[in-house]
Amino acid sequence: MDAATVMQRCEALSEISEVQGFLVRPYGSDAMYKVNEVVAEWMRGAGMDVRADAIGNLICRYEGTGEGTFILGSHLDSVRDGGKYDGPLGILTALACVERLHDREERLPFAIEVPAFADEEGLRFGTTYLGSSHYSGAFDERLLELEDRDGVTLAEAVRAFGREPESLSGTKSAPDDAIGYFETHIEQGPVLEDRDLPVGIVSAITGLSRIQVGFTGSAGHAGTVPMDGRKDALCAAAEFVLEAEAAAKAEPGSVATVGEISALPGAGNVIPGRVDLSLDVRHGDDTVRGRLRDHLEKRAGEIAAGRGCDVNWQVRQESVAVSADPHLVGLLSTAIKDAGVEALQLPSGAGHDAAQMASICPVSMMFVRCKDGVSHNPAESVEEEDVAVAIDVMGRFLGLVAEERRGR
Ligand code: GLV
Ligand code: MN
Ligand code: MN
Repeated sequence: MDAATVMQRCEALSEISEVQGFLVRPYGSDAMYKVNEVVAEWMRGAGMDVRADAIGNLICRYEGTGEGTFILGSHLDSVRDGGKYDGPLGILTALACVERLHDREERLPFAIEVPAFADEEGLRFGTTYLGSSHYSGAFDERLLELEDRDGVTLAEAVRAFGREPESLSGTKSAPDDAIGYFETHIEQGPVLEDRDLPVGIVSAITGLSRIQVGFTGSAGHAGTVPMDGRKDALCAAAEFVLEAEAAAKAEPGSVATVGEISALPGAGNVIPGRVDLSLDVRHGDDTVRGRLRDHLEKRAGEIAAGRGCDVNWQVRQESVAVSADPHLVGLLSTAIKDAGVEALQLPSGAGHDAAQMASICPVSMMFVRCKDGVSHNPAESVEEEDVAVAIDVMGRFLGLVAEERRGR
């Protein structure tokens, strides 16, 4: 399979969406079922065995001649109105590598496993890495009570996916003999484009906190309640949104984003009595992220109190910053140079399943150049020539890992 096929397949998967006209594929949706079916068929065609685990990850396996499993993963869920490559590019380039081996009737001295994770973005439950947390055995059962926008809990969503929520914690679906994890992903930023490079090495993945903040005031008549007597939850939320922006600007290297907000009861002539918003806080240094998060929690309380409102602060998920494994980075660097490309290292401000996988094995990642640095946006775009370089480098990288295993 070549880069052109990867591009066509990314295009085809982008048509599988919950909404016609743009891409939205949340955890547990019909679109996720469908995309898993399509990808499973492609994987079988490349000589892989396919199964689904308890959270709905699609796990594809190409056996080797010896012991150990090297994992090439990424995710198939999406954000709302997302791009075609965030996630699927990693799965389809991994498939391309396996297909090349299969076509040559070649087996490596270890198995290759390709887990296509069912949730990395956290679109539905506001908590990222659900798929890779179960795969790696780190699923937190407290998450089962989280509700989506329609009040459906994660436990109910798992049941609707035909799985048992009770079986998610304390178990893992990754193999016990994992020797490493590698993920190819669109860069989602401008660095490779600025440096005129098709691919790059990820040195570290940011830590992140995802928090649900609720302001409760008092709903009332827009025409009769005087301005001084109001407990307007949306005004409190507005003040908080600007506070998050200012606080992140004051803490170098950090980012804070309010990406989702709802005001209730939601009528033009009613003072909002309740506002819920999402807060995403990130920094490469976990101490700085913790400091910023705590500062914002304190400010949320002060802002609410100043307006006679209450605030509810719920940390939905946190994950620590993770460095790529130096040895795998060395091999990847060799593979990139052997392909005739400068081996540039860059940190990732985006979260990736590799961060979760680091709890069970050494991890590494490669970025593919992203047009104008635009991602989480339908304009997200990669070039076929860069995808060809990525497939070539992945093949070389696996060859280097195989050489090492043979020489043990
Ligand atoms: C995933 O794309 C994230 O960084 O939130
Ligand atoms: Mn994403
Ligand atoms: Mn992603």
